[in-house]
Amino acid sequence: MAEHFDLVLRNAVVVDGSGAPRFEADVAVRKSVIARVGRIGSACVEREIDLQGKVAAPGFIDAHTHDDRLMLSDPDMPAKVSQGVTTVVAGNCGISLAPMPGGVRGAPTPPLDLLDDAGGWFRFPNFAAYVEELNRHPPATNAVLLVGHTTLRVATMRDIGRPADEREIARMQSVAREALAAGAAGISTGLYYEPAAAAPTWEVIEVCRPLAEFDGLYCTHMRDEADRVVDSLEESFRIGRELGVPVVISHHKVNGVRNHGRSHETLACIERHRQEQDIGLDAYPYCAASTILTADRAASASRTLVTWSRILPQFAGRDLAEVAAQMGLSQDEAVARLIPAGAIYFSMDEADVQRILAYGPTMIGSDGLPHDAFPHPRLWATFPRVLGHYSRDLGLFSLEQAVRKMTGLTARTYGLEGRGLLREGAWADITVFDPARVAEGATFEHPIAAAPGIEYVLVNGEMVWEVGRATGARPGQVLRRVAGR
Ligand code: ZN
Ligand code: CU
Repeated sequence: MAEHFDLVLRNAVVVDGSGAPRFEADVAVRKSVIARVGRIGSACVEREIDLQGKVAAPGFIDAHTHDDRLMLSDPDMPAKVSQGVTTVVAGNCGISLAPMPGGVRGAPTPPLDLLDDAGGWFRFPNFAAYVEELNRHPPATNAVLLVGHTTLRVATMRDIGRPADEREIARMQSVAREALAAGAAGISTGLYYEPAAAAPTWEVIEVCRPLAEFDGLYCTHMRDEADRVVDSLEESFRIGRELGVPVVISHHKVNGVRNHGRSHETLACIERHRQEQDIGLDAYPYCAASTILTADRAASASRTLVTWSRILPQFAGRDLAEVAAQMGLSQDEAVARLIPAGAIYFSMDEADVQRILAYGPTMIGSDGLPHDAFPHPRLWATFPRVLGHYSRDLGLFSLEQAVRKMTGLTARTYGLEGRGLLREGAWADITVFDPARVAEGATFEHPIAAAPGIEYVLVNGEMVWEVGRATGARPGQVLRRVAGR
């Protein structure tokens, strides 16, 4: 009797996510699992696609996102699945949508407004309620969830301009413990941002104590990514050491003209500490950053673009210098008129970006901001840009390494069992792309566009993206971290 498969991808070039050399095979899917990788003869098959030498890879894992709310408000997630992303890590940079016991009154404190500038989405009294909502209304992609230290501070402290006191720390610990028990893979911090900047190292260590019980991850948008970037690395590693948990350095970069070239120093520092403790890092493939608009950030960038403004939305997409000139104001005064707002800052050195991307342990994470009116193109184009521009066109690393940085490496870092490798028995998260054609669709001028060359994307065995369109299937699951790997 012939074997039965739901889908067979024939004549694929398999790039399996481990970094191993590509090979030719057919790939068969049964239900939500990869049932066979090899030559498949006669079989009883629901659907067959001849890939004619296109690449079949594990679905990409976006190591760094702010998709907490996107998964609920735009569950087809075209910005993600159009790039071949099948799993997103949400809750980064200290800001998670949950939990928010008591909700938020009025406009959320920046940078929480990157998730929702009106505040109504901060409606989950505990983390379990958020997880339950995702289970009840699943999005197209799988999710790995972090709980944010800034969210914990805003939820539990009356005055966030000072370090937490003993009672507040105890409360944050118990909220964090609930989140970890409900499925959070770790805690993120955003010590750079105002609502967390007053937290000294010891506060972070104390609040993160529950991580040790769950072997959760400590992920951090560091206190300083500019002049004091090495001090900030040391602080992050110390927190990981004192807690005995793995550290992930978010969107690693060196900001500001006078720091250009210092990735030599930061990568050497990371490499040295990796001999003694568990450290990962992610990066996005651009030399422009994006976050909330502040006068300081704008002053240290060579160019600033406005991505959104609540009060003056007509300036989204415009150059800040032009906006200031049109208003007849200084740049600082124009910023004061625009905020709350977001911006893109050209502030990095291309050589640093390439050195960090090429570093073996670096994972690819978009850091996309899905609710910006005129978003940084990293939201739609991170993965195809790495595959097309950096790997194929510049030859910065092989296709096998590019895929590993978006799949196998990321699954191992986050402890995602059965993900990140295209193997028999793994979950059927699969991205099929044309290696000759894959490229970024979105640009700084036109930031919302699907990538050419991404042909089929499957999540848990279901097709979510097919020849240029989201299918409307929403098979995503909340993934639990399996520690001790
Ligand atoms: Zn960040
Ligand atoms: Cu981020």
